[in-house]
Amino acid sequence: MPASSTTASRALPLTLRGVGRRFDRPVLHGVDLDVAAGEIVAVLGPSGCGKSTLLRQLGGLDQPDTGTVRIGDEPARHADQRCAVAFQEPRLLPWRTLRDNVALGLPKPSRQDSKTSTATSPKLTKPERTARLTELLDLVHLGPAGARRPREVSGGMAQRASLARALARQPAVLLLDEPFGALDALTRLRMQDLLLDVHDALPTTVVLVTHDVDEALYLADRIVLLADLSQQPDPASADSEGGATSIQRIVTVPGTRRRDRDDPELAALRQELLEGLGVHRLHAGNTVTPTLTSGA
Ligand SMILES: Nc1ncnc2c1ncn2[C@@H]1O[C@H](COP(=O)(O)OP(=O)(O)OP(=O)(O)O)[C@@H](O)[C@H]1O
Ligand SMILES: [Mg+2]
Repeated sequence: MPASSTTASRALPLTLRGVGRRFDRPVLHGVDLDVAAGEIVAVLGPSGCGKSTLLRQLGGLDQPDTGTVRIGDEPARHADQRCAVAFQEPRLLPWRTLRDNVALGLPKPSRQDSKTSTATSPKLTKPERTARLTELLDLVHLGPAGARRPREVSGGMAQRASLARALARQPAVLLLDEPFGALDALTRLRMQDLLLDVHDALPTTVVLVTHDVDEALYLADRIVLLADLSQQPDPASADSEGGATSIQRIVTVPGTRRRDRDDPELAALRQELLEGLGVHRLHAGNTVTPTLTSGA
């Protein structure tokens, strides 16, 4: 589906330098990462290693203790309007129709909008608003279902509405925190293709947190594997200059998105990533059982 005049998007690059965040312990340390405009980067790592924390730094929902986050040429701002976030739960308002929920994502103009080059979209006229909503619902294949309320639709439909709401503001950056984690396996595979369709139509920069190595291999241009600093031999060293850093590996995934899930090259990479996550194979007779040895 081609980008249209009402939903054309403006992807921006992300630049992280020396990003650190500690709560009762160091969670992120020394994160250096460049994400190109329009790139899809997946973030993998054991549970509690700081994936959601990293996403919050990118969207300006939380501030790093050290380092900088830039979106395009400017620092990330508090609740940065250039970013949109979608979570594992669709977080729809139950009393509103899907269409009205998506409408909540349409831009709210502020005085800043008219002054900055990276402004959010200007106020829409009523016909423009109607056209944008119809287009967004069509994009996520909800069309006529837009009139239904969240309790009247499946989990996959609700999640598609959540995605459309995130896209409504024409974000430069789309931050997805395990967006398909609560869906059944088949719906999840369909949603992965839908995300790529949407990305083709609206080439946004995407950072996708997932626990699913196969999902990362199918969707992402690159995969960032985070380490759990609390599992390091000396976690306190993460607070010091030159101590353990959060990024364990950054992997460029061979081939292009919508990869063949049976590609042997991906199978080797999958194994490496699983080992990086602390998942080892136990051979029991002819069966191979993945088992978690840390956090995940
Ligand atoms: N606002 C906060 N205050 C205190 N601790 C926090 C806060 N946010 C996160 N943490 C802690 O930081 C660590 C990382 O949390 P985060 O949610 O980023 O992990 P995650 O990698 O997304 O985990 P999961 O895979 O389970 O979603 C956890 O130990 C968590 O308890
Ligand atoms: Mg998380």
